[in-house]
Amino acid sequence: MKHLSSYFTFATVITLLFSFEPPSLDTPEKFVQCLYNNHHISNSISNAVYTQTNSSYFSVLDAPIHNLRLLNISSKPQVIVTPLDVSHIQATIMCSQRHGLQIRTRSGGHDYEGLSYIAEVPFVVLDLINLRQIKVDVENRTTWVQAGANLGELYYTISQKTKTLGFPAPHTR
Ligand SMILES: *[C@@H]1O[C@H](CO)[C@@H](O)[C@H](O)[C@H]1NC(C)=O
Ligand SMILES: *[C@@H]1O[C@H](CO)[C@@H](O)[C@H](O)[C@H]1NC(C)=O
Ligand SMILES: *[C@@H]1O[C@H](CO)[C@@H](O)[C@H](O)[C@H]1NC(C)=O
Repeated sequence: MKHLSSYFTFATVITLLFSFEPPSLDTPEKFVQCLYNNHHISNSISNAVYTQTNSSYFSVLDAPIHNLRLLNISSKPQVIVTPLDVSHIQATIMCSQRHGLQIRTRSGGHDYEGLSYIAEVPFVVLDLINLRQIKVDVENRTTWVQAGANLGELYYTISQKTKTLGFPAPHTR
């Protein structure tokens, strides 16, 4: 009898587990669905989402990797998001939290250890490659730089606006 009742309890727990887990979509699909359903998105996000079945997934992931050893790492993001505006970043944060994915943020510059695209847990890469606007205000001696811009672009853009100002940035972005 003891045996039977513990078996019953075990079976009940299993049944409960299954009833709490919706049998429909996998995590990456749920995450993408969450992005598409997000009401705060201004610009369409459908051109900024790469799942592993997308034919461009590996070229988008691998293009900025210069330490070729890191190409062979088996830890790959479930989805890559290349936001086109700030609302896409907000949606990525909300949806990854909701579906238990961590975020690695990549700005496209130097990352020789792969910290911006490797993780030991399920994750998405937030790749800021499209957010590279640079606004130079010579009069006020200030420049606003989006995180995806690299230093070469920054130096060049400043040089096009002024012959006297510069921005020294060793070992930073
Ligand atoms: C791959 O993803 C990009 C960006 O979201 C999208 O524009 C393109 O249509 C997708 N291609 C395929 C084959 O799914
Ligand atoms: C990646 O792994 C494959 C198979 O082990 C090997 O042939 C290749 O040389 C490796 N590539 C790099 C860049 O380490
Ligand atoms: C830049 O300078 C102009 C004129 O000196 C001023 O009107 C403007 O508010 C300044 N902009 C910023 C962002 O500080």
